[in-house]
Amino acid sequence: MRYETYKYERRVKKKVAKFALKFIDDDIVLGLGTGSTVRYFLYELSKYIREKGLRIKCIPSSIDTELIARKLGIPIDNFLQEIDITIDGADKVDENLNLIKGGGGALLREKLLAKSSKEVIIIVDESKLYKKLSGIIPVEIVPFSLNYVLKELSKYGNPSLRYSKSRYGPEITDNNNFIIDLEVGEIENPKELELELKKITGVVESGIFPNDLVSKVLIGKKDKVEIIER
Ligand code: A5P
Repeated sequence: MRYETYKYERRVKKKVAKFALKFIDDDIVLGLGTGSTVRYFLYELSKYIREKGLRIKCIPSSIDTELIARKLGIPIDNFLQEIDITIDGADKVDENLNLIKGGGGALLREKLLAKSSKEVIIIVDESKLYKKLSGIIPVEIVPFSLNYVLKELSKYGNPSLRYSKSRYGPEITDNNNFIIDLEVGEIENPKELELELKKITGVVESGIFPNDLVSKVLIGKKDKVEIIER
């Protein structure tokens, strides 16, 4: 990535992360997603909590988010419960607000947070917007099921086991599972594909987040933040 592109992305992610603070009230239970955009949100949130003296409780979607949040003094509770608002990122957003998530491997807990939340707000920069979803769908699987699931998933596209970037062997999720990256063409019906993938024995969860899990998408642009509501 060119340095200018990196700088631009950083600025836009920071802007959309800061904008998301508008939706944070006192005394709420807040779900925290995972990823680089959420990381900017965590920095902004920690300042906001201190400035306003907020008494909120935050449920993290990954160990990564939990560690950063704790370091920043954000109050963490690790028990999944009813959540008022979740703020999360996404890898891809289509024109109907269906999402692909899980690039960072946190899709299972992210989906649990989304399903436990009254409101789910997605923060992205405009590079994440597509007419239709396609490309890599991350799928979390039980390790023992690997060969069977690879065979079943090949009916839908081109599956490959995700390897760790930092150590030898497959990537291991926070739930001690593997991730398969399933490469597919354009997805006509994300909800239907999500349900089909879930039926494969050994699949724990997929990174398809149908739009019924999404309340709003905040899109960071060069000079503004656009809000799209479902
Ligand atoms: C984590 O598993 C993902 O679902 C992230 O939400 C997604 O990859 C977005 O990350 P960035 O904000 O780093 O693009």
